[in-house]
Amino acid sequence: MKKYLVIGNPIDHSLSPKLHNFWIKQNNIDAIYNKKKLNNDEIENLIFDIRENKISGINVTVPFKNKVIPFLDELSLGAKQTQSVNTIFMKDNKVIGDNTDIGGFESAIKKLDFDLSKKTAFILGAGGVVPSIIYALLKMGVSKILISNRTETKTENIKKLFNNIQIVSWGEIPEFDIIINGTSVGLDNNDQIGLDFSKVGKDKLFYDVIYNPNQTNFLKTAKQLGNKFENGKLMFIFQALLSFKLWHNLEPEVNDKTIKLLDV
Ligand code: ATR
Repeated sequence: MKKYLVIGNPIDHSLSPKLHNFWIKQNNIDAIYNKKKLNNDEIENLIFDIRENKISGINVTVPFKNKVIPFLDELSLGAKQTQSVNTIFMKDNKVIGDNTDIGGFESAIKKLDFDLSKKTAFILGAGGVVPSIIYALLKMGVSKILISNRTETKTENIKKLFNNIQIVSWGEIPEFDIIINGTSVGLDNNDQIGLDFSKVGKDKLFYDVIYNPNQTNFLKTAKQLGNKFENGKLMFIFQALLSFKLWHNLEPEVNDKTIKLLDV
């Protein structure tokens, strides 16, 4: 039986095992997908288990997406540029790090039928997933990316990866077509991001990477102001699907049942 894992710290709330095991069963694959809480000093041994074929694939989440990189043999183009790996596997005797958060975001936006070409994107936050979102936005042809984070040094670090992005001071709301909440504000139902969106207009897309709760206060505000809005559920599902495809060479169907599986 093949073994798959998601590693992170914390990891208790990860829904990856539920989704992957559902698809594993649906496709009659002899495999199991578990979660493992990890410490920094355990990464190297775990990657060794991939090399030894004891584990067939690993998903990586906060705070290890960057920390696993020194132990890998090769990175996909996206993983390299974002310095972020969420999927690990062996290919031709090499341990490969890939980044399916990029394709996950891209697929989720495409489902919404919101054309991003030549548009302005405004990103809030500078955490783990933000470089992947920037990479995907550039791939989709946005003309301008603005980014704002409470702690400005972190946006400066992201600018080292993507020269062309522009930093906006925290609290300022520039003109935009799509705004993405990449902060952790909203994970708690009572969280308020503390920004004033009352002057942004009506035809914008508010996107929240958070999908639990289903509707953060950020998305509730978007709705009240008459804008389009979407949570991160499909992004999560599509990143999982793309990892599944890399590991099993099969593409599971995404339907209502898949989406319901993630209702917690
Ligand atoms: P990590 O930084 O470990 O990748 P993350 O959850 O991906 O963790 O990122 C947290 C993001 O949410 C950061 O951008 C953080 O801003 P800081 O860099 O200033 O910490 C942002 N964040 C968390 N709480 C916030 C708050 N109350 N107001 C504004 N931004 C907040």
